[in-house]
Amino acid sequence: MSHKTRFVALLAAGALMLPLAACASTTPGGAANCNVGITMPTRSLERWINDGEQLQKKLKDAGCTVDLQYADNKVDQQISQIQNQIAGGAKILVIASIDGTALGPVLEEAAKQSVKVIAYDRLINGSPNVDYYATFDNYKVGQLQGNFLKDQLKLDSAAAPINFEPFAGSPDDNNAKFFFAGAWDVLLPYVQKGTLVVPSGKAPKSNDEWTSIGIQSWQSDKAQAEMDNRLSSFYTGGKKVQAVLSPNDSLAIGIVASLKSAGYAPGADYPMITGQDGDKANVKAILAGEQAMTVWKDTRKLGDRVFTMIQQITKGEKVEVNDEKTYNNGVKVVPSYLIEPEVVTKDLVQSKLIDSGFLKASDVGLG
Ligand code: BGC
Repeated sequence: MSHKTRFVALLAAGALMLPLAACASTTPGGAANCNVGITMPTRSLERWINDGEQLQKKLKDAGCTVDLQYADNKVDQQISQIQNQIAGGAKILVIASIDGTALGPVLEEAAKQSVKVIAYDRLINGSPNVDYYATFDNYKVGQLQGNFLKDQLKLDSAAAPINFEPFAGSPDDNNAKFFFAGAWDVLLPYVQKGTLVVPSGKAPKSNDEWTSIGIQSWQSDKAQAEMDNRLSSFYTGGKKVQAVLSPNDSLAIGIVASLKSAGYAPGADYPMITGQDGDKANVKAILAGEQAMTVWKDTRKLGDRVFTMIQQITKGEKVEVNDEKTYNNGVKVVPSYLIEPEVVTKDLVQSKLIDSGFLKASDVGLG
């Protein structure tokens, strides 16, 4: 081989090698095409802050480009954040929607740019352009709350009727429907039998009527105002509420505040209140006997799952799901990965929440 031919051969080999080398160095797990836009509903709830920050960190550590946005629970704001992310070159969108029915047009835009869409925690409805859904088993969340009340109140053997007030989550959040259905499938039979009595009359006759007791945007102050109304109108003459179905922790905060201002204090006459999320303030309330339980969703597991989905998408692998029947968004059944939620009561705070590193002992006044 002459000098010249060897040089050309080397060049050719180099030209072949270069893209490979570039691939190998910048795309461990496809990081070069890993450009992700994350949109979360609000900073007003602790869980969304943790969710967003954890996922962002994992992705950045893996070499992805990430844009993380919070929308103050405003639908228009979320839509323009998503538009900006598409315009900015995002190839994957991770969206925890505010209104699960409002994103059709912006997702059509995403599809035109071949952007993959992962619905995060909340399903996005009415659009064909939702590729995957990662969430907790939302029906199970409600079922755990319903079964907790059933067992703790001993509904199968209760001697006297129990005064009970149910609440539901935000009417625009698809999850809220599942939470309610899970709980109501357990509790409605006891309302029908008269074991549970709802003095306010706000007991939906079927799962489908859940929005009639939904609290818009999951706001604590709205739950508090609603509980104030129920207590002042229907709990007169010494009547006491004994149990409250609260679908999550932010509503439980408002309900507890209302009870306190109406003179309830932890002890014999204090109602049993459910929750969901394991927010710090609520865990403190659980330790203080003001809230009976929370359904804990280890959001780190959800972040890990979405991270895996993103890696599988960028590597062109099959995305792993474990449910292909439950989440029909009105246009299609969205392939989903469901994670198991679990009950945390006072005696499980240490072993579940603190020992696992989800919360610090000092966060909840224990250390
Ligand atoms: C989430 C809950 C949360 C609620 C309010 C729901 O979609 O699944 O974890 O408590 O929204 O933000």
